[in-house]
Amino acid sequence: MPHSSQNLSDTLVHMGRPARKDGRHVNLPLELGSTIVFDTLDAFEAARDARYENGTQYYGRYGNEATFQLEHMLAELEQADGVSLTSSGVAAITITLLTFAQPGKHLLVADHVYGNTRNFCDGVLRQIGVETEYFDPMIGADLSKLIRDNTCAIMFEAPGSGTFEMPDIRAISGVARAANIPAILDGTWATPVFCNALTLGADVVVASMSKYLSGHSDCMLGMIACNAKYFEDIRKTLFAVGDKTGAQEVFLALRGLRTLKMRMLHVDQAGRDMAQWLGQQPQVKRILHPAFESCPGHAFWKRDFTGSAGLFSVVFHPCDKSQIRSFVDALQLFGIGVSWGGYESLVLPVTPQRNAGTWDEDGQLVRFNIGFEELDSLKADLSKALPLLNIAPE
Ligand SMILES: Cc1ncc(COP(=O)(O)O)c(C=O)c1O
Repeated sequence: MPHSSQNLSDTLVHMGRPARKDGRHVNLPLELGSTIVFDTLDAFEAARDARYENGTQYYGRYGNEATFQLEHMLAELEQADGVSLTSSGVAAITITLLTFAQPGKHLLVADHVYGNTRNFCDGVLRQIGVETEYFDPMIGADLSKLIRDNTCAIMFEAPGSGTFEMPDIRAISGVARAANIPAILDGTWATPVFCNALTLGADVVVASMSKYLSGHSDCMLGMIACNAKYFEDIRKTLFAVGDKTGAQEVFLALRGLRTLKMRMLHVDQAGRDMAQWLGQQPQVKRILHPAFESCPGHAFWKRDFTGSAGLFSVVFHPCDKSQIRSFVDALQLFGIGVSWGGYESLVLPVTPQRNAGTWDEDGQLVRFNIGFEELDSLKADLSKALPLLNIAPE
């Protein structure tokens, strides 16, 4: 289960900061550096031999005081045995997949994953001889029927990017456990405030920290949280690839995390309010938000999550594509842009890519990220733009 909210608040405020001593700054300083020097060759060699371990200062690329503090804090939040930071959410996904997917292997990937996860599987992994098979994210325990002798991992997302189907994390993780392969979940949406997927059976949780975890649209970062069984292998791939987090990004993430719980509680309420309101507009055919019954897998959200992010989609009744463009352009308070989880509201039309034939909705899908503006202002902005959609409801 997720942390009790009291523990979570205490972790967010007190971890990732300097040890208690008089006359200290509240926050860690911005720590820049490449070479780390030692006084004896013995000390240098001891650090080199332990360089994959979180907490060993050997050379800048392997981490410093601030990155280790952030990794420890995230491990506590995710209830993980270990966390590794990456330079972006995409790097967290690709480094994790590269750890398990060797030539000749078969990889199972949920059909609703983030576009760049799909691109990596269909591009780089295909080139090195890995076969990716996409599966219906709502398949549950029947996923066991797709396991082969050479299946190396299961990759999925909760909920799906753009379409928000909520998979049964417990059942899919159970299939992976029975096959002795890792269940890798992209948990960016919920953050550890609303779900601890490792306690539900997932082996690895990857996340883009560029979203809620840092929270202010000023930082690119990713993280890989996992149980002990997979920690060292993933960390070795990370350092072999040479991915590296910047000192400024680590500083910004530590600062952003302090307010994570408050921000998530706000977007949970604000997102549900806006989705409810949008659902009442005649132009809207369907709301795709895990907290709503109209969303596939709503029951799994209810069972496994304690809240929801402020990111959801609506399906508009079929209309001319140019009207969708006019509607989006007319919005003044919603920026048009990729990514989400900052303080600002965003809007983006989405065209789902599918291989396992699991998206057949008629109508235009539009994704909204609800930020911290007044909800009445956001509704007024939408009210002005919605009439540009000249739809005839069925
Ligand atoms: C679900 C999900 N995972 C991963 C990523 C990639 O993260 P980043 O942009 O930090 O590389 C994104 C970015 O949009 C995302 O939406």
